[in-house]
Amino acid sequence: MKVVIVGTGYVGLVTGACLAEVGTEVVCVDVDAGKIVRLQNNMLPIYEPGLQEIVKRNQQDDRLLFTTDLASALPGAEVVFIAVGTPPGEDGSADLQYVLQVAGQIGQLMEHYLVIVTKSTVPVGTAVQVNRAVKESLDARQLILDYDVASNPEFLKEGAAVNDFMKPDRIVVGVNTTRARHTLEQLYRPFLLNGHPILFMDIASAEMTKYAANAMLATRISYMNDIANLCGLAGADIDQVRKGIGSDPRIGKHFLYPGIGYGGSCFPKDVKALIQTGREYGYHLRILDAVEAVNEDQKKILFRKILRHFDGDVRNKKFAVWGLSFKPNTDDMREAPSLVLIDSLLEEGAIVSVYDPVAMDEASACLGNNVTFAEDMYSAAENAAAILLVTEWNTFRMPDWQRLRKTMQSPLVFDGRNIYDDVQLIKLGFTYYGIGKAN
Ligand code: UGA
Repeated sequence: MKVVIVGTGYVGLVTGACLAEVGTEVVCVDVDAGKIVRLQNNMLPIYEPGLQEIVKRNQQDDRLLFTTDLASALPGAEVVFIAVGTPPGEDGSADLQYVLQVAGQIGQLMEHYLVIVTKSTVPVGTAVQVNRAVKESLDARQLILDYDVASNPEFLKEGAAVNDFMKPDRIVVGVNTTRARHTLEQLYRPFLLNGHPILFMDIASAEMTKYAANAMLATRISYMNDIANLCGLAGADIDQVRKGIGSDPRIGKHFLYPGIGYGGSCFPKDVKALIQTGREYGYHLRILDAVEAVNEDQKKILFRKILRHFDGDVRNKKFAVWGLSFKPNTDDMREAPSLVLIDSLLEEGAIVSVYDPVAMDEASACLGNNVTFAEDMYSAAENAAAILLVTEWNTFRMPDWQRLRKTMQSPLVFDGRNIYDDVQLIKLGFTYYGIGKAN
């Protein structure tokens, strides 16, 4: 089977590479000519474990092609995925202009039956608009062609995208014809061999599933952050509470980690967009308003603890920020809580030295000359008044505390992800602050 994927961002590129990996003929299309040339030369726009090898292998075998020319990509294809960006508009709603532009272009160029699938995260009702855009283009050509529109949201996590795609918990597909259902069933068959289910449903439900999933995960995080803050005040320890509640199978142990707020390109945007969809239907999603408010506040929690420790004065004190990306195993800095923390420190006159194993280039585009980019985690901490653990990369998990003690100005750690053993650190002479602990 041949498929075309329009948009070579996170979702489009991973989808293209992984479909090619199981033998599908894939053409990835993007309007950014520079990006296409780099991809043709195996230079990827993102860091994602395992992806580069898959892209390279399938390019060498001619199963994965990159082009800017949609017209030359479409002949012979059975499925075309729309995987372009849906950035937040001013009111928080997803901006669909790129999705609908692509739908219109497909209508201008198609010459035979296609299943046109939205893979981008799009609000409920988008398929109707996609259908309209395709039809308008066909009408303008005075052409009657059969086609189907489908919704196939993507659930991959950055940092684990290849694995998530190759071994999906489930594949959600919204269709309204048997023909489209059979085509997509055939396309995804190689991924279902180990019993992973494909869930067919109506298109609106598929579109809604994506937002409902992300918003629920964001809700779990804000809920845990809220409870963590109360634990800190009431003398309880959130890590013990987390284990206590997570062992109830109805709650489950995953995705219960408190921290400094969720970030990234998905949760913040999708929670806002779902709230906005609610508004459009005259429905107030009160829980999600609270989820957002707690998250905004949580991004400031470490800074508040720091200010309290230093009696409100951090001027000319050096802070070592460990980790910058919004989570480990990615260089993605979008909505990264590290940026909020660093801004607050700089505003108060502090000196900031940062280190991240992968995201330094991405971060320098956001932070410019305002901070020092250290060679490694130890040089970041030299003469520092405190270490601020922001992103839980593995490399930060077992530092040489004795060495740090000797080179730091004061042995002090603010652990934004609760990865350190507070008892051990205190024994080693450090002062320790975590999230949701009694301090
Ligand atoms: C998220 C979803 O997990 C994916 O299923 C979805 O496909 C994706 O959004 C998307 O819509 O494209 P992602 O944003 O890559 O994936 O990252 P997550 O691993 O879900 O983490 C999101 C944020 O939550 C991070 O800032 C992370 O630090 C935070 N988090 C996560 C916590 O604070 N605590 C937790 O227990 C888990």
